[in-house]
Amino acid sequence: MNLILIGPPGAGKGTQAKSICEKFNLCHLSTGDILRNEVLKQTDLGKQAKDIIDKGELVSNEIILEIIKKFISINMNNYKGFLFDGFPRSEDQADMLNNLLEEIKVGISKVILLDVDQSILLQRINKRKEEEGRDDDSEEILKSRLDVYLTQTQPLIDYYSNLKLLEKVDGTMEIIQVNQRINSILEAV
Ligand code: C5P
Ligand code: MG
Repeated sequence: MNLILIGPPGAGKGTQAKSICEKFNLCHLSTGDILRNEVLKQTDLGKQAKDIIDKGELVSNEIILEIIKKFISINMNNYKGFLFDGFPRSEDQADMLNNLLEEIKVGISKVILLDVDQSILLQRINKRKEEEGRDDDSEEILKSRLDVYLTQTQPLIDYYSNLKLLEKVDGTMEIIQVNQRINSILEAV
């Protein structure tokens, strides 16, 4: 089973991803976590990514593709599939993922949209900033991250609806309720 989690920043993708992956033995592929780790280690990739992350913009498709390919090849034999968290971020990236999965002869089982209203996102991000200290969780950068989400990522909702893969989940419910809702969708896959 291969899943994609879509949702605006602060929707709870990372939180849900952890429980889903544990329950269904999936490998959690968070491109944001990978990039932040590269920044922390001050690798060449990390240095390139830092400026982009600090502006709330997206790193190039080439960089993301390289990250994804490497991650998949290292982990593909150890799990029942992947959970893509924070990727794809655009229609081009969705096409890239389709091609990549086709090469390894697997498909996307479901795409879960965590639907959360913008007014709630800001509160959540403020809370996360206190807890995790992410530099890009500032009000200023959040504006641009939201803008990128609306213009580049939101079109994926139609993209995956057309492929009959999309399931919308109300992300404003309590964490446990969101989790139960997702589990019942995935148990039926
Ligand atoms: O997914 P997450 O919100 O953790 O990503 C944090 C930041 O990492 C994004 O705002 C963006 O700058 C960068 N990113 C990216 N491309 C991705 C995932 C994350 O550029 N596929
Ligand atoms: Mg995340």
